[in-house]
Amino acid sequence: MSRKVTKAIFPVAGLGTRFLPATKSVPKEIMTLVDRPLIQYAIDEARAAGIEEFIFVTSRGKGALEDYFDHSHELESSLKKAGKNDLLEILRSTNMDSGAIAYIRQHKALGLGHAVWCARRLVGDEAVAVILTDDVIMGEPPCLQQMIEAYQETGGTMVATMEVPAEKTKSYGVLDVAEDMGAIVRAKGMVEKPKENPPSNLAVIGRYILAPTVMENLNKLKQGAGGEIQLTDAIADEIEEGRDVFGLRFRGQRFDCGSKAGFLQATVAFGLARDELKDEFSEYLADVMAMRRAAE
Ligand code: G1P
Repeated sequence: MSRKVTKAIFPVAGLGTRFLPATKSVPKEIMTLVDRPLIQYAIDEARAAGIEEFIFVTSRGKGALEDYFDHSHELESSLKKAGKNDLLEILRSTNMDSGAIAYIRQHKALGLGHAVWCARRLVGDEAVAVILTDDVIMGEPPCLQQMIEAYQETGGTMVATMEVPAEKTKSYGVLDVAEDMGAIVRAKGMVEKPKENPPSNLAVIGRYILAPTVMENLNKLKQGAGGEIQLTDAIADEIEEGRDVFGLRFRGQRFDCGSKAGFLQATVAFGLARDELKDEFSEYLADVMAMRRAAE
């Protein structure tokens, strides 16, 4: 079986209540780190990994997200007339090929597994990547590319993983490790948000490459942690049925942009990574820290 991965699912149906009131009218995926929406970081990462078809699982109120991917002809022509080629370039870099994006609605908020399952007819019988836009990862090569490279070697199903402090494991899918090969671990189980006795401190981070059989497992629409249909459970079923599931300890820094603190940290990191901002911004941050220390 070919190990090419050309499709990716972006579950973007969540309400983003943690960012109210901002998310009252703006989908959380449109919120920006410096000047790019979260969704753009996810798309850029997918493109770098060779993804050609982008499947968004949306919900009511996400119209702005669909509009974001329209080509802005008026804006492009006025920038062109004004000779603002640098801005034109930035804008064009966000344009997607016609027909490369599909939108599917998740009609009920039944969980991440259900959101992924909603895309099943568009995916068909092939491996598919899943990117959770809340998890922004700064890494070179980008995380999904690292995963696809690892997946070429291993096949099976693969999740991105990283060590988290033991008390944080209850917020994640957690791997039960059968074999630790360094960057890659083979899992013998996976538990969604374990309330106690986590099988390890290796948490699942929002990047997946799913074997086609995971979609079949999702067909059972089994309720799991929090009463939701969990992607973690459908992946754990793979192991139960004797198929391979791996975790990749990716190289890079992950930000939990689903939380305010994580979002602010990402803003600082991505701000400092920008040539045109880093001097002024780092000077400002140093001043802020000095003032805090002086006040203590
Ligand atoms: C989801 C998954 C969880 C994973 C996490 C990574 O949880 O269900 O297994 O560890 O993303 O961010 P959520 O954070 O959406 O509750």
